[in-house]
Formats: sequence, C-alpha cells, structure tokens
Amino acid sequence: MSKKPIILGIESSCDETAASIITENEQGSPVILSNIVSSQVDIHKKFGGVVPELAARAHIDKIDWIVQSAIDESGLKIEEIDAVASTAGPGLIVCLSVGLSFGKSFASALNIPFISVNHLEGHALSPKLNSNLDYPYLLLLISGGHSQYLSVENIGVYKRLGTTIDDALGEAFDKTAKLLGIEFPGGPKIEVLAKKGDSNKYKFPKPIFNKGGCNLSFAGLKTAILKVSQNIKNEQDKFDIAASFQKTILDIMYKKTKNAFKEYEKNKRKLSDRKLIVAGGVAANKEIRSMLKELCNQNNYKSIFPPVELCSDNAAMIAMVGLEKFKMKKFNHLDYPAKPRWQLDENAAFLKGAGVKL
Ligand code: KG4
Ligand code: ZN
Repeated sequence: MSKKPIILGIESSCDETAASIITENEQGSPVILSNIVSSQVDIHKKFGGVVPELAARAHIDKIDWIVQSAIDESGLKIEEIDAVASTAGPGLIVCLSVGLSFGKSFASALNIPFISVNHLEGHALSPKLNSNLDYPYLLLLISGGHSQYLSVENIGVYKRLGTTIDDALGEAFDKTAKLLGIEFPGGPKIEVLAKKGDSNKYKFPKPIFNKGGCNLSFAGLKTAILKVSQNIKNEQDKFDIAASFQKTILDIMYKKTKNAFKEYEKNKRKLSDRKLIVAGGVAANKEIRSMLKELCNQNNYKSIFPPVELCSDNAAMIAMVGLEKFKMKKFNHLDYPAKPRWQLDENAAFLKGAGVKL
C-alpha cells in the first residue's frame, strides 16, 4: 500500500479563516480528514459589508488555532503533513497575505513543499471532494465575491464563459437586504421575505439581458431598488420589493444560464458532459435551485448542487487543488506573491469597471 499524500489547505481570501487536511483513499478519491471554517460575520455585520482591515486582523488572531484545530481533528501529527496549499488570490490583499505567509512559514519550518492556489480553482474542483465527477463540466459559481460560468475541461484547464462585470450575485442580494434594513449578509433573509410578497409589484431592470452572452451585471438593480426603498410605508412594501427583486434575479439567471449552455456546447459535448454544478453561498436559495433544476431538465443537463459546506468558502477545496498539484509535483517558491486580481482563465479579458465592452 503506497503512502497517500496528506495536504494542509489554508484559506483567508475574504472573511472566512479556514484550514483543512485532506488525503485520498486507495481508489484515488479525496478524503476530508478535517475542515474548519471560522466566519467573521459578527465582526462585519454592523458595517453592512466586509471591512478589509478588520478582516485581516481577525485572520491574524485566528489562523494559529484554526490550523491547529484542523491538525487535531485530523488525528494526525504535524510531521505527517506532506505539503501546504494556501490561497494566493483573488481576494483582498491584506487578507490573502495572512494565510499565504502562514502557509509559507509552515512549509519552510517543516521543510515540505508549498503550493499556491487560485481560490476560483478551489471552487472549480470543490464538487470532486464528495463525488466521482468526470471532466468536463459546466460550473456556475454564485457567491458573495464571485459570479462566473466556467467550463472545467480538466485539471488546470478552465475557460471562463461569463462573469459579472460589476457586483457578484450574493452582493446584489446583500445590498438589496441592506436597503430594506436587514443586517449583513441579508441574502438568506431576502428569500424568506420574498415568500410573503407580490413578485409582480415592481419592475426592476435586467442589465445586459439581451447582450453580453452569459456575462452578468447586477449594479443597475441596486440603483432601482434604492429609489423604491425610499417610499417604503409598511412591511408589505418590503416583502413586495424582496419578491420582485428575486423574480428579476430568477429571470436573469434563467436566460444567462441558457446562454452559458450554448457557450459550453461550442466545444463538441457528449450527453455525459452535460452537467451543471452550482457552487457558492447563493446556491442555497431554494427558488434559484428549483429554477436551475428545471432549466437543466428541459435542456438534458444533469444539475448537481454540492453540500453548502463544500461549495461556500472553505479550505478543503484549497487542499483539493493542493492534492492535485502535489501529485503533478507542481510546487511554488516561497516568494510567490499574493495576487488580488488573479484570473483563473488567464486568456479571459478583465471585465470590471466603467467602459467595459461586451
Ligand atoms: O460562498 P459564500 O458562503 O461566501 C462568500 O462569498 O464569502 O456566499 C455568501 C453569499 C452572501 O452574499 C449571502 O447573502 C448569499 O451567499 N446567500 C444567499 C442565500 N444564502 C446565502 N443569497 C440568496 N439566498 C440565499 N438563501
Ligand atoms: Zn469563494
């Protein structure tokens, strides 16, 4: 029986401090030995969003015991770890630097390889943590920081089919919630309020609905909601805004996901390649889930929703990339920099900010 690699993954790109230890079984499938995530929601909620300086301080405070807890929970000794993988980007530079420096020091002290990981590659491979998913597949990542359609062709071969040109979908939910007086992160609460509202009461804009392929834009929605939120007279008005907002999102995501299928199919695909994996915190929204399931059924796609603890920010997905790179002996030097804007698909155009051409 050959010794299987044991990888420590560290994640600190935004407001979650996380560490995980994974290995693989005799069949070569990943096995999660520990997966510890510490969220900073309580720190940021009074500010209505993530405050980078506070996030970095919280990472510094917690990283030692989060890594220690991941090692303790795995039941292994520190000397048994074969490599350390840390997120190097994209994300907030002050936050990335904490996990990256910690990982490098750890690797240096133990004299084991260090591996830098793109956070989006972690999301792209996260469904492989609990299923024997074959390449290729289409990934929709909808979180508080990212919204992308990615075709995952193989390990290391990713094509970005579409991305948001401004806010992420989770951010749009959170900003709408904030305008309704709901604490950050208010996305889940919007889903609850929407149940009691009239989804046809307000007509909100659908930015770039009829252009831009499967690129996304949500910033115009926030401006429209700001206007109507100034006239809120009672609770029912809030319910109606939440319901109308969510309905607009459903319409946008239906159309854009259909466009993403077309983009994905520009490469010849077999029936077994028609798989849509939906990852990120917003995938917890039941209305979005059932719309996407239905859309997949209509288009002969299999829809897969990994468990939220594996597809929202965590370090097991970072360790998963580390494991793959370890097997390919793809290591990094200890001077590897933090890369706040690191794109997964390096051929994809940077599509953020005013004046973007679609
Ligand atoms: O992937 P995730 O857990 O972490 C980060 O992006 O850091 O995603 C969190 C995002 C937040 O914006 C949150 O409001 C949103 O996912 N979210 C939801 C729901 N649950 C979480 N948005 C809409 N409906 C939900 N049920
Ligand atoms: Zn993420």
